[in-house]
Amino acid sequence: MDLSRRQLLKGSLISASALALPQLTMALGSGAKYDYHITAEPGLFDIVPGGTTPGLGFNSQFPAPVIRCRQGQEVAIKFTNKLDEPTTIHWHGLRIPIEMDGVPFLSQPPIQPGESFIYRFTPPDAGTFWYHPHMNSLVQLGKGLTGVIIVEETEALPFDADVVIGLKDWRLNQDGSFLPLSIPRNAARGGTLGNVKTINGMIKPVIEVPAGGAIRARFANMDNSRTYGLSFKDYPAVVLAEDGNAIEAPYPLVKRKTGSGMRLDVGFIAPSNVGDEVIVYDQKGRRGYYEICRFRCIEGSKKPATKIPKLPVNPIKAPDLSKAKKINLVFEWAGALSPTKKDGSVDHVFWTINKRAWEGMMGGKIPAPIATLELGKSYIINLHNATPHHHPIHLHGHTFTVIKSNKRPITPYHTDTILLAKNERAQIAFVADNPGRWMFHCHVVEHFKTGLMGYITVA
Ligand code: C2O
Ligand code: CU
Ligand code: CU
Repeated sequence: MDLSRRQLLKGSLISASALALPQLTMALGSGAKYDYHITAEPGLFDIVPGGTTPGLGFNSQFPAPVIRCRQGQEVAIKFTNKLDEPTTIHWHGLRIPIEMDGVPFLSQPPIQPGESFIYRFTPPDAGTFWYHPHMNSLVQLGKGLTGVIIVEETEALPFDADVVIGLKDWRLNQDGSFLPLSIPRNAARGGTLGNVKTINGMIKPVIEVPAGGAIRARFANMDNSRTYGLSFKDYPAVVLAEDGNAIEAPYPLVKRKTGSGMRLDVGFIAPSNVGDEVIVYDQKGRRGYYEICRFRCIEGSKKPATKIPKLPVNPIKAPDLSKAKKINLVFEWAGALSPTKKDGSVDHVFWTINKRAWEGMMGGKIPAPIATLELGKSYIINLHNATPHHHPIHLHGHTFTVIKSNKRPITPYHTDTILLAKNERAQIAFVADNPGRWMFHCHVVEHFKTGLMGYITVA
């Protein structure tokens, strides 16, 4: 049965505001050595009508609490592992010290069941980021451990509403139990897609916004595999930030492909009549517009807004392109099933970077880096996707500038994840200014689990 269709019928009855995402409150009190406390633990989620999903959640919830901190201000987040397996938490897109990056073995020992770790960092950039484990990702992310972390600008911006729109699919039976999270033949292609798409844990929710208000909608694709073509169709909206990073010149949103791990901040002025709606679509092909959620106007408190605030651009060092060293990385399909390994580290190898599939770090053995960069120097990486599938390619610890592509015109922009289309060649550049061993991988979880992963050393 088509679960989403059934829910659609019920959808018109959902008026609960999706604005009401759990927010973390400060852990106050004398002697608290941290600002927030989160856990990873099993929880029961209501995703499909009439079913219960035995998931894994931050604070055992889905959606996870939204963590808010501030640009240039230290935040300390205590994390306690209440799973029955080790984990770590990665802060996707934040340029923070390697010790806080949350990659097992590479940046910290795995956090064992029952143990805690305090993540402490000062985010240099404002924007929409997200957090997730970096161990057993297929299961830990697939079952719900994904959350949004917002870094507020140093000065508050005059939006009338700031809404988080977390996208995540689920692979569920009608009773809410999980279907297999990965199917090898799909892992060797675009990734295994979910059969239940949710926004903030709800199917096609209605999100209330103030009529006439200037709205900042923060889309975060926290799915393991799906790429969304985000579109407001004909309703005027502008792209304010790509993958957390404010862009110099906001441009009208027509459709923006947003792959796993990617974000999009969209600004729009809500219709001025109470009850009016703006629909958000996943746009596919020529005329496929599939609703993912809608905004409905409720009483606003003030005069209709006339303009959408601009976001301040983040302080990313500009690479020196004339002196930059070049690195070439080719992503390929390995094309054969390798025998299943007994230790379970890699079941199959389907993908390679420069002919090499990621070996995994089972037992803490760290393979060689893809490249070693000199601290403080500028680099240009030529990325070549020699596969017929798209890959959202992500680098930890740095924000890079996309400068060229053979598939689309590029106005250089900052990002931590670039979606490479089939056969695309793109050029990215950055200053290697953060010392450490930084993961570099496709964010389709099954792709990095089957080879499309590595790390870059900056020293
Ligand atoms: Cu979202 Cu290796 O990260
Ligand atoms: Cu990351
Ligand atoms: Cu991929």
